[in-house]
Amino acid sequence: MKYYLFGNWKCNPVSAQEAKKLISDTAKSVKRTEKVEVAVFPPFCYLYEVVGKKKEVAVGAQNCCFKEAGAFTGEVSPRQIADLECKYVLIGHSERRKIFSETDSFVNDKTKLALACGLVPVVCVGETDEERTAGRAVEIVTGQIEAGLKDVDAKQVLVAYEPVWAIGTGKACGLAEAREISRMIKEALGSETPVLYGGSANAKNGAVYLKEAGYDGLLVGGASLKADEFAKMFEEIEGLD
Ligand code: PGA
Repeated sequence: MKYYLFGNWKCNPVSAQEAKKLISDTAKSVKRTEKVEVAVFPPFCYLYEVVGKKKEVAVGAQNCCFKEAGAFTGEVSPRQIADLECKYVLIGHSERRKIFSETDSFVNDKTKLALACGLVPVVCVGETDEERTAGRAVEIVTGQIEAGLKDVDAKQVLVAYEPVWAIGTGKACGLAEAREISRMIKEALGSETPVLYGGSANAKNGAVYLKEAGYDGLLVGGASLKADEFAKMFEEIEGLD
């Protein structure tokens, strides 16, 4: 069994010096093993500081342009990200969907282009609080998977289920609910697509999603900014059967 521990730094930290310290502290406390793949996703401006510096930790970008090059002010293309020798790219994180109006069709374009550029996309899906309350979680996530991964070989991507209401709120998803979604995603895509859980995952609850809810890994926001907490998550996952 292969597990994944991914840290999404979001728009943090605010200096290159802090980014270098965070990658160095993170790398010190994790190991490169066959069993657990550790990756961090720093802001674009620090990718260069971080990528290739620590063999223990793979690196990914938090977003990419839907085009390879051209007149797209403010965008960074997957070709450029791959050229930096990053391995992964997050696509369709709920903050991109909500704040920057990214649609499933945009997610699909980016996913296909990222693959063509040699990156491994981590496609994020998840329902909002409103959608969940209306009993539509499975329907929403199914729709995001179908549209976002249309004409994509699912074996080449990772999927992160991140219920929007659980992100940064301290209200992690209950195991039964999380299990229902991991089962549904695996039924839709096949067992070869790793599925990660994200949303207020921490050292206390993280490994339980892998042990009891059918997930292959975690996409961690806030807790990935604390190297000691992230290290504990790594130890917990390393210790799984
Ligand atoms: P969180 O964020 O762990 O801070 O809830 C997860 C994410 O948005 O990827």
